[in-house]
Amino acid sequence: MLEGLKGNRKVVMLTAYDYQVARLVEQAGVDLILVGDSLGMVVLGYESTKQVTMQEMLHHTRAVARGARNTPIIGDMPIGSYATPQLAVENARKFIEVGAKGVKVEGCVTDVIERLVSDGIPVMGHLGLLPQTAESYKLVGKGDDAEKIFRDAQTVDKLGVFSLVLECMPEQLAKKITENVKSITIGIGAGKYCDGQVLVINDLLGMDESFKPKYVKRYAKLSEVIKKAVVDFREEVKDGRFPDDAHSFH
Ligand code: KIV
Repeated sequence: MLEGLKGNRKVVMLTAYDYQVARLVEQAGVDLILVGDSLGMVVLGYESTKQVTMQEMLHHTRAVARGARNTPIIGDMPIGSYATPQLAVENARKFIEVGAKGVKVEGCVTDVIERLVSDGIPVMGHLGLLPQTAESYKLVGKGDDAEKIFRDAQTVDKLGVFSLVLECMPEQLAKKITENVKSITIGIGAGKYCDGQVLVINDLLGMDESFKPKYVKRYAKLSEVIKKAVVDFREEVKDGRFPDDAHSFH
């Protein structure tokens, strides 16, 4: 997956969680779709990604796979689903059965990555801010932790991850990692030097006006569009303008 893209053309990944959005994201021509465990926060209304289950991830991965038949889909393994290498393989296979081409795991989980790769499952790593275990969502790699993140990146790269998400770190650290690994780095809040970029689709579309971290660029304001459409519908129904002749059978 993504062969030949390192250092050549920027890779574009976006999250998707359902059939219709997956279809649109594919039509728009992204390189990869991630069924992220951000599902828990932006779709299911959980406080964090820590509550997301395998069952929920598989349910949404199935829907995304129906909508995007020609774009590689990566299933994000939820917390607990890769607690041991054996469990990781069993759960990763479930993602593949429902249409994913590979899986993503957070952190320098060497024995898990080694096992998945040796079983032929394409693995995307994830370093920097790790939402499944972080106590708070903030920039990492600005101090002493930078060296560990760099070393972890080299370790998971050597184990054979095909790609590596770098989340919420200074761009110079992401640059150093990108220049020293074979895998394709995909940044989120990690600056312009990564091989590619990912955003959570709900953030890019502006679905939640109260959520605007520095690294998110809103390409639309869907919260306003949706609210206005619903208000218009409500008013037209209340005052009898909908349904009119054009929307009725005679
Ligand atoms: O769950 C997710 O959407 C992610 C991205 C932020 C990379 O892990």
